[in-house]
Amino acid sequence: MDNETVKEVRVFAPATVANVACGYDVLGFAIEAPGDEVVARFVGEPGLRIGQITGDDGKLPLEVEKNTAGVAALDLLKHLGMLDLGIELEIHKKMPFGSGLGSSAASAVAGAYAVNKLIGEPLTKKQLLSFAMTGEASADGAWHADNVGPCLLGGIVFIRDNQELDIAQLPVPSNLWAAVVHPDIEILTRVAREILPSEVPLANVTQQIGNLGGLICGLIQEDYGMISRSVHDVIAEPRRQKLIPEFYRAKRAAMAAGALGFSISGAGPSVFGLCEGEETARRVGETITSVFNSVDLANQLYVSRVNKTGVRVID
Ligand code: HSE
Repeated sequence: MDNETVKEVRVFAPATVANVACGYDVLGFAIEAPGDEVVARFVGEPGLRIGQITGDDGKLPLEVEKNTAGVAALDLLKHLGMLDLGIELEIHKKMPFGSGLGSSAASAVAGAYAVNKLIGEPLTKKQLLSFAMTGEASADGAWHADNVGPCLLGGIVFIRDNQELDIAQLPVPSNLWAAVVHPDIEILTRVAREILPSEVPLANVTQQIGNLGGLICGLIQEDYGMISRSVHDVIAEPRRQKLIPEFYRAKRAAMAAGALGFSISGAGPSVFGLCEGEETARRVGETITSVFNSVDLANQLYVSRVNKTGVRVID
């Protein structure tokens, strides 16, 4: 190892809002905060290990093969034929589990990205997608890139096909903001997926496709009216809203406060209001917060532009 070799890398992987109402499993965007941090460093002993996890209340396994960050990093090293390298990971969880903020995806992305950086960046960000996906899938068994994609690449990411990982970044209108509120309850993604029907009426499919296409057009043309008319979910939201206390009250309040649209972030319980401008986003966020506060449901508000960078190295 020469003097120029990096010995340690610390990365930040942001929270993400998956589905964005009309794009179940095929659309997601990253926000500025919260996010997970992972440190990767070279150690003398060969092999990958996890030295420390913080912020998880002891819930996450230190075993590399059972940890989303570990699985992602291991899969990458295996692909590169570098399993003998001595690397230690530290994982600092800075967002809650089962929050609908893409917590397991963030750890998986951070694990793969940190190790790739540490070993001299043999792969591009986009090439890390499948390794991060393997890591995330080890947590909930499902294979959807609507958290991992935007967490890795930043911006708003559309997934044409989850199996092929055929994805594209969409343009982000300059004044697009989100108010994301996490009410302090836990919803397991697996449970939120199980309550969805295996078949949906054709009329709903048609409506959802129209909204998804409309949202994409609205983003491309920076047409906030089109975005607003399109941010509707007629498939998952009607079934999942029952898992979130005061959902429709929060939605009515957010829309009255000027949100372009409001729905569930990922599998929930977090909710988001999409907004034009920071001021509106703050007002919408505070309105949603006051609905949850009125029933003594603790919650955290995050007001953010769409994060265009995705995972990144930090000091
Ligand atoms: N698209 C996924 C779902 C996101 O809604 O179940 C979960 O992280």
